[in-house]
Amino acid sequence: MDAHKIIFFFILLHVTLSSSTTSVVDFCVADFNYPGGPAGFPCKNPANVTVDDFVFSGLSVPGNTTNIVNASAFLAIDVTFPALNGLGLSMARLDFGVGGVIPIHAHRVSEVILVVEGTIIAGFIGSDNTAYYKTLNKGDIMIFPHSLLHFQVNVGDSPALAFVSLNSANPGFQTTTVALAANDLPTDIIQKITLLDAEQVRKLKSIFGGTN
Ligand SMILES: *[C@@H]1O[C@H](CO)[C@@H](O)[C@H](O)[C@H]1NC(C)=O
Ligand SMILES: *[C@@H]1O[C@H](CO)[C@@H](O)[C@H](O)[C@H]1NC(C)=O
Ligand SMILES: *[C@@H]1O[C@H](CO)[C@@H](O)[C@H](O)[C@H]1NC(C)=O
Repeated sequence: MDAHKIIFFFILLHVTLSSSTTSVVDFCVADFNYPGGPAGFPCKNPANVTVDDFVFSGLSVPGNTTNIVNASAFLAIDVTFPALNGLGLSMARLDFGVGGVIPIHAHRVSEVILVVEGTIIAGFIGSDNTAYYKTLNKGDIMIFPHSLLHFQVNVGDSPALAFVSLNSANPGFQTTTVALAANDLPTDIIQKITLLDAEQVRKLKSIFGGTN
């Protein structure tokens, strides 16, 4: 083995070892009797865990799309499906009525989408402001890299359905418009930090329940 190969071998070994799990338990179903922290929730007593803890049927139910965006997102994350706690992944079901939109938003992690019914335009914005977007059909998947703003729009003439998976048990879900308009940040500050008109800011605040 020449020097290059040996160095490569040790780098590979190091990456393999440091990325392998060091968990000393098989699972850690969340116990909501205690507060969560950066690593998730404490574990429910394994003696009280059954197979039913590892099964969640919430994503079988179509979401209610009668709302301002004609779409819904139902999340299977640690707080709804406690067996995900500590395992670094989650899922969600996205239902779109005709014209339905999941408005531009971001998570702390990456997301992959699988279109199951219908035709959507999905995309994300790179940190250099490049827009990557494409029409997706049934069976297509697309990845939205970690933390980047992304969106989905039903552009078909029928409802659409998609499932997503994210590499955190609690990925966060921050929708840009809601983040700006659903709180008490004063309108004049929002105007300054977004360059939007005051009238538009007040309209968004009234839609999303913001004050000031
Ligand atoms: C486990 O279940 C038993 C029987 O239902 C209950 O008495 C006990 O409090 C539970 N323990 C924990 C840690 O939840
Ligand atoms: C869907 O949501 C709308 C608006 O909140 C509500 O009026 C309607 O009853 C809901 N439909 C169902 C089937 O729950
Ligand atoms: C949502 O659906 C309603 C009723 O079908 C429609 O009038 C409205 O234009 C839709 N909204 C969007 C954003 O497409």
